[in-house]
Amino acid sequence: MKGFSYYNPTRIVFGRGVLNRLPKHIPLENYQHVALISGASAHKSGVAAKVAALPANCSVLTEPVPEEPTSDDVDRFTLHLRETNADLVIGLGGGSVMDLTKFAAYLSRNGGRCGDHDPTPHIDAPALPIILIPTTAGTGSEVTPYAVINHAQSGKKFTVNSPHLFPQWAVVDPDLTRTLPERYRLATGLDAWVHNLEAFLSATPHPMADCQAKEGLALIFKHLPRAMDDPDDGTARTALAKAALWGGLAITHARTGLIHTLSVALAKYSNLPHGLLNATITPHVIAFNLAHYAKDRIEALGELLQVPEGDREAVLVAIHRFLALLQVPYQVPLTGKADPVTDSLIARVRMDKGLPLVNPRPITDRDLADLFGRIIRMED
Ligand SMILES: [Fe+2]
Repeated sequence: MKGFSYYNPTRIVFGRGVLNRLPKHIPLENYQHVALISGASAHKSGVAAKVAALPANCSVLTEPVPEEPTSDDVDRFTLHLRETNADLVIGLGGGSVMDLTKFAAYLSRNGGRCGDHDPTPHIDAPALPIILIPTTAGTGSEVTPYAVINHAQSGKKFTVNSPHLFPQWAVVDPDLTRTLPERYRLATGLDAWVHNLEAFLSATPHPMADCQAKEGLALIFKHLPRAMDDPDDGTARTALAKAALWGGLAITHARTGLIHTLSVALAKYSNLPHGLLNATITPHVIAFNLAHYAKDRIEALGELLQVPEGDREAVLVAIHRFLALLQVPYQVPLTGKADPVTDSLIARVRMDKGLPLVNPRPITDRDLADLFGRIIRMED
């Protein structure tokens, strides 16, 4: 076996109701100016006010983070952190809120503008200390060194990856996802599923990511359909929160793969939420790579899906069945107005220099054009 290294400095506090015991787990009294960055739903539900009341010196932001924040929004929140002399930042919300929090915590201490980090990010100094509290069970951003941001000018998504973006604490309370609207419960659960799946099927696997991803997949296969049927099912909610965490830990070392890279290329043109877009792309990518996945990966996946040992086609059929049960579309609908040029989609995919290391099959431009052709459905 090849050697490996593993690093994750985030202290994880996990459990139902753990938010109420935040001051027990985190020495908030050590900080003078605690800033809270949160999404609209946390503002509306009162959770933001509840969290803001926990530390003595918390300056709640007056505005919630917009639904699809851009690099300009990151700059605006950075300014607030600077003006309030924040020495600890709490990010409360879904993936985009947590990613914005990480970036703003870095910029407020080190200066610069968010948009200037695309395409050559320079995150090489510590950010302010960060606590992340997810209100979805999806992205796993609460334990990763990644931040994904929409560039305000180009409209493109870009990813920054730096050990300085690991939060100090991740506080995961599965009860926070109870009021998540159905569409987001599905999309975020599917994002966690794809994180675990891509980490597990990587051509450059990581032994610790393997354990996390396999367990994450098992939890999601069993509990996502249950959570969709009954949002009050606390057992299913807890399992999904754990699976999202496992997915975040797994992609930190095994990274995401072709599904996410295609998804990032299409994001600008599609209205589907990130997780649903990923899930729609998934069977096309699995079909493309099917003969090339390592035998032990297919056998393990088959075991989770209860299909005959090593039967690759049966694994693909079972994945289709799982996604059909959750009413995931088979193709990504795009309107004629937003007709993307295939060459520019391919160029975007080629910007992912690490992709050939993790995808089990070499990918030609022709393959990519075929894949996009199968994935996209143009509408009037
Ligand atoms: Fe994702």
